[in-house]
Amino acid sequence: SSGGPIVTDLLWCGKPDLPAHALPPYRCCPPMSPTEPINFTFPDPSAPLRTRRPVHEVGAAYMAKYARAVALMKALNKSDPRSFYQQANIHCAYCTGAYRQVGRPELPVQIHFSWLFFPFHRAYLYFFERIAAKLLGEPDFAMPFWSWDVPEGMRIPKEFADAASPLYDPIRNPRHAPPAVVDLDYMDVEKNYPDEKQIQHNLWVMYKQMISNAPLPSLFHGQPYRAGDAEKPGAGTVEIYPHNSMHGWTGDIARPNHEDMGVYYSAGRDPIFYPHHANIDRLWEAWRRIGAARGDRRQADFTDPDWLASSFLFYDEEARLVRVTVRDVLDMGRLRYGYGGVGLPWLSARP
Ligand code: C2O
Repeated sequence: SSGGPIVTDLLWCGKPDLPAHALPPYRCCPPMSPTEPINFTFPDPSAPLRTRRPVHEVGAAYMAKYARAVALMKALNKSDPRSFYQQANIHCAYCTGAYRQVGRPELPVQIHFSWLFFPFHRAYLYFFERIAAKLLGEPDFAMPFWSWDVPEGMRIPKEFADAASPLYDPIRNPRHAPPAVVDLDYMDVEKNYPDEKQIQHNLWVMYKQMISNAPLPSLFHGQPYRAGDAEKPGAGTVEIYPHNSMHGWTGDIARPNHEDMGVYYSAGRDPIFYPHHANIDRLWEAWRRIGAARGDRRQADFTDPDWLASSFLFYDEEARLVRVTVRDVLDMGRLRYGYGGVGLPWLSARP
């Protein structure tokens, strides 16, 4: 029988289902918590709003601070759930079948290709950012985002391409190092467009995936996925392009599984994963706002109780295990963060 929210079984984290020729490590279960998970509680409503701003705009000092946060995460003991190693593992565990549905050990929890895609990644980044803030000793620190949807952001930011930086990952496609312009609907084939044409093409892709093809929650978010269902019922527009395509564009096509960014199990090992996903998260909010501004009640989030009650497990900045529901992450204001510093130029790029 199927129905009800997807709930992760915290006692069952097993062997991930890895592709052939995967790179070590081969396990991705986060450390066991000595205590039961606590339920998520919202930050103080009077806490300052943390504004995430684009990498290309925040300046060198801010990016150096972000690099320091990542270096501090990398320096934590690997058994610490807040370490960079374990943060990457969380993503691996949620997309390789290491985690199972509560009461249904035969069914994996898969947070891609369904309506769990946006809320899972929002919660994941929320805790990543809180951990970074704690390690920096700056509770109001906001992570920068990689705004590949606006012309100024359509390259890998140079800070991530500097081999001496903690933000660097050598396992990427060397052809796509800066100044290569991103290809938002990349499918493993080089378009070889001149930059101007590629930029225009990218703006069209954005319009198509955010507006033309996404007038309903099932089209934007992805298909319903309930307890007892098989994984991957269907992805939303933005998950496929530009989300998946930018993973594939960044990863190393010469490796069997296009590591690190181009395959689920290793994507979180690349520090660019997090600013990439902050942009995805920003696009979710943009989609809702565009719908609301048009008074279009269909272009809005699901209200399905199974979606709202689905839940995930994360470690917070104090290394406490927390259960977060989809309902908890719907309002960025209540999470005390927002996005700024960049517009939506593709809104006028209707093909
Ligand atoms: Cu969980 Cu960008 O993938």
